[in-house]
Amino acid sequence: MDHYVVFGNPIAHSKSPLIHRLFAQQTGQQLAYDTLLAPLDDFAHCAREFFREGRGANVTVPFKEQAYRLATRLTERALRAGAVNTLSKLDDGTLLGDNTDGAGLVRDLTVNAGVSLKGKRVLLLGAGGAVRGALEPLLGEQPSSLIIANRTVEKAELLAELFADLGPVSASGFDWLHESVDVIINATSASLAGDLPPIASSLIEPGHTVCYDMMYSQAPTPFCRWASEHGAALSLDGLGMLVEQAGEAFYLWRGVRPDTAPVLAQLRQGLAL
Ligand code: ATR
Repeated sequence: MDHYVVFGNPIAHSKSPLIHRLFAQQTGQQLAYDTLLAPLDDFAHCAREFFREGRGANVTVPFKEQAYRLATRLTERALRAGAVNTLSKLDDGTLLGDNTDGAGLVRDLTVNAGVSLKGKRVLLLGAGGAVRGALEPLLGEQPSSLIIANRTVEKAELLAELFADLGPVSASGFDWLHESVDVIINATSASLAGDLPPIASSLIEPGHTVCYDMMYSQAPTPFCRWASEHGAALSLDGLGMLVEQAGEAFYLWRGVRPDTAPVLAQLRQGLAL
């Protein structure tokens, strides 16, 4: 049976095995999918060992940059992201590195939530790996502007330069921004510490602005709470992005696109228990 894993450290609580097993059940695909804890200093060796037999792997924190270096071929979006979250062993032995995170975000926003980004003013908070992975797919939706705001402005400036050929992208500090935008996406890791990036509530036009947090948790994240309190039209968390990035990986591996909606509903229900 074809074998797939998700690499990470830590990895025990990953939802990827459940998601991919549900996809496999739903599409009638025969496959095994497990977690694989790689030692922090030995990802490359661990991955090479797995790929003697294994067909594909997802890669999560902290190995996405190492997976990028391990891949023998990269998709355009992985090349742009500088990180790989999906590895596939092709029949000729090539280890193809892809990055489905940004596509998952865009699919969750545009398909699941029905929010078109075309011609919209989009604000991205953060300038780490999560933002870098999202920039190419987001700019592909042709927003009228995309501002990257970060605590360390230089990092936002660097990313804006790196992606300038793909669309109207610019950099900013948090406290320079006051005028409302159409969509705000939080890609900082501030929520992990129960924190919020210091942004003005005037960025939200009540009843209009859509807010999206790449993080998710059982209770609404601090960013989602902030968005709801200030009247955001929608306040979405990143559980859908997680399921959609998995759907993209599954499609890449198996050539079948799973129906993500029932899987997302089941995960949401599990989160509420
Ligand atoms: P990831 O891969 O999840 O993007 P990362 O590369 O470590 O993680 O990036 C974390 C991002 O969250 C950065 O943009 C960081 O800002 P700095 O570049 O200034 O460090 C941002 N971040 C983390 N904690 C934050 C906080 N409390 N307030 C605002 N931004 C924060």
